[in-house]
Amino acid sequence: MAWTGRCPDCGEWNSLVESVAPPRVNSGTAPARKGSARGPTGKPVVLRDVVALETARYITGIGELDRVLGGGIVPGSLVLLGGSPGIGKSTLTGMATANLQANGIETLYVSGEESTAQVRLRAERLGPAALEVKAMAENSLETILATIETEKPKVCVIDSIQTMHSAELTGAPGSVGQVREAANSLAEVAKRLEIAVILVGHVTKEGSLAGPRVLEHLVDCVLQFEGERERTYRTLRAIKNRFGATSEVGVFEMRSGGLTEVTDPSARFVEEATGALGSVVLASMEGTRPVLVEVQALVSPSELEIPRRVVTGIDRNRLSMILAVLARHAGVGLGTSDVFVNVVGGVRVDEPGADLAVALAVVSAQRGQALEGSGGKPLACFGELGLTGDLRYVGHADRRVAEAVKFGLDPVIGPRSTERLPGLLSCASVREAVRRAFENAGQAMAA
Ligand code: TYD
Ligand code: MG
Repeated sequence: MAWTGRCPDCGEWNSLVESVAPPRVNSGTAPARKGSARGPTGKPVVLRDVVALETARYITGIGELDRVLGGGIVPGSLVLLGGSPGIGKSTLTGMATANLQANGIETLYVSGEESTAQVRLRAERLGPAALEVKAMAENSLETILATIETEKPKVCVIDSIQTMHSAELTGAPGSVGQVREAANSLAEVAKRLEIAVILVGHVTKEGSLAGPRVLEHLVDCVLQFEGERERTYRTLRAIKNRFGATSEVGVFEMRSGGLTEVTDPSARFVEEATGALGSVVLASMEGTRPVLVEVQALVSPSELEIPRRVVTGIDRNRLSMILAVLARHAGVGLGTSDVFVNVVGGVRVDEPGADLAVALAVVSAQRGQALEGSGGKPLACFGELGLTGDLRYVGHADRRVAEAVKFGLDPVIGPRSTERLPGLLSCASVREAVRRAFENAGQAMAA
């Protein structure tokens, strides 16, 4: 094949993707078809008459993973597990296959990145069950497909999809063409033999599944494993799930013996919350579950022309928006200050309900005045900031408030709600929320 850097049709550079040519159909000798001139006629059915069997799922025994999957792995399904290097993808899949194997569900672990010796070393850390998993170090897609055909495992892990290489394509492993070809072939085998395939995919720091993004429409389920590598907490969320809700989130902690589930994250985070200067507790929703997390801010005079905006656990653009709203609608100007915002524990909060917590943490840091709820506990809050400075309603207000109250954090500052929620101190605007938060702190201190 000649090297072509530019599409001869549209003139776009680097937009061509290599793919395997489909076999040619000899239309001349094809039998005459009934129906239209284009092809045979299909037969639509009334959906009521379709038999949909509720298939049993493979339970991985890792509660948080099963929950995020919608109740375990569906046989014959294709799951993409994305995450940055070192986050724990191999650990999670290693633990899942260990449990499955121990329950008599045949597994196959294909590693394209590590030798079987390296896979064994990890398995040793995970316990004796992990050593019973069948593993193979292989990059050749053709060899892997043939092995799957003969071994016929029930669950197969491909770690990672970016290391797979098909001899039919000239592209390097990890190129869009290779990744797509590998996923397509594996999907075909998965459906035909009812083998659940978990594709591990690397994600860049910016959060895009480099390469695997092209797979999202092909797979049944996309799981994203997130967290800061240096920190111990990890969140697992479903971005797409044909067999369950996409809002579910699992929380894990990386320990020496692998990942442990954190079934009550609020208790952990509240225990660690300091209630210090620039700190508030966010009553957040992780899927259908309320979680209390600590949001911290640091504000300091900048020596730079363009002051720094550094975030961990929230979106940087979101911070810019919040700072603009604070400046315009609450009289808090930070144009000459560096602002750092951190969600404690390496958790990511990707929801508009986090706005108010970020705003209050920043104001507390800027004023040099700690925010306190009742009884010396940290202040809890939630709510979205509108560009007009209003404090907007976000979903599940009742559960957020209830969770905070459960941990003795009341009142909770939040947006107005149609229901009457005991423990909620409702505010209409960010200006009002800031005022009430500091009033509240003042009362707490005086008491
Ligand atoms: P790994 O699963 O290899 O990450 P990924 O496949 O996503 O690249 O493991 C990530 C880190 O976890 C690694 O630095 C070592 C650490 N780790 C533990 O702390 N405890 C353990 O029991 C294991 C297996 C790994
Ligand atoms: Mg790995």
